[in-house]
Amino acid sequence: MGRMDGKTCIVTGAAQGTGAVIAELFVQEGATVILGDVQDVAGEATAARLGARAAFCHLDVSEEADWADVVESTLAVHGRIDALVNNAGILKIASIEDTTPDDLLRLVKVNQLGPFLGIRAVAGPMKTAGGGSIVNVVSSDGVKGMNGVAAYASTKWGLRGITKSTAMELARHRIRVNAVCPEAGSAEMSAPYLPDGVDPVFAAEFNLKQRLKPPKGYRLADHIGDVARMVLFLASDECPTATAGDFVIDGGMTAGYVQAGLPGSD
Ligand SMILES: NC(=O)c1ccc[n+]([C@@H]2O[C@H](COP(=O)([O-])OP(=O)(O)OC[C@H]3O[C@@H](n4cnc5c(N)ncnc54)[C@H](O)[C@@H]3O)[C@@H](O)[C@H]2O)c1
Repeated sequence: MGRMDGKTCIVTGAAQGTGAVIAELFVQEGATVILGDVQDVAGEATAARLGARAAFCHLDVSEEADWADVVESTLAVHGRIDALVNNAGILKIASIEDTTPDDLLRLVKVNQLGPFLGIRAVAGPMKTAGGGSIVNVVSSDGVKGMNGVAAYASTKWGLRGITKSTAMELARHRIRVNAVCPEAGSAEMSAPYLPDGVDPVFAAEFNLKQRLKPPKGYRLADHIGDVARMVLFLASDECPTATAGDFVIDGGMTAGYVQAGLPGSD
């Protein structure tokens, strides 16, 4: 028996990276998954790889009409939507002086408006179905500050605000809304910002090792697997009272720091 048997789920940004891993895990656990993305060729290929319980649907999360289409076609074929994972996201790394207003608005459209539209689109069908689970993929940059990501971090902090407010509104309909905040994801996202010749997976794994103090041999793929398993837990029926939460996957990095000389520092 799978942990998502009989559930119909929409995962955005699922053509590659974290979204594809989440979609694969959901399918393995018995769900039917609609993979939404702007990358049609890669999205179709990922859905084909996942088998008969996966289907690709073109979805630009910043377009309300695309949301209407994906919800309508999902309901027409499957009759219900049990879970939505707002995973699609884009990154810009630049100093505040080199980040233009257009850069900020481009990120807001995908990272903030996208999940906002998604929640609006599925709230009605989830109410009709008697409940549901919405999981927003945020970032540790939505819990703390970091140089170079003023625009990106602001959209991720904003997404946590959407998460908490919609969780308050929708709880009486048994719809849960939670945020998962990973430290890392697909290496492809930050690759364009690395110096020439630096391998993006090596760079991501170096950062994980420095910041998360993970077990020996922990790889980037293990971290993305941790993220997918947390999303699965929240999307499943396993904890019906978990809502409005920020579920960080960051080795405790955002909780504070170890003060030298005090107990526990050696
Ligand atoms: N990569 C990281 O280091 C990192 C760290 C923390 C959090 N995250 C978050 O994890 C999530 C997944 O990112 P990833 O790491 O897998 O990166 P990724 O770039 O591999 O995947 C993002 C996916 O979103 C899709 N996408 C972009 N714009 C879209 C749009 N308008 N509509 C629909 N789909 C769109 C892309 O085509 C891509 O398939 C994002 O929300 C990201 O912010 C990533």
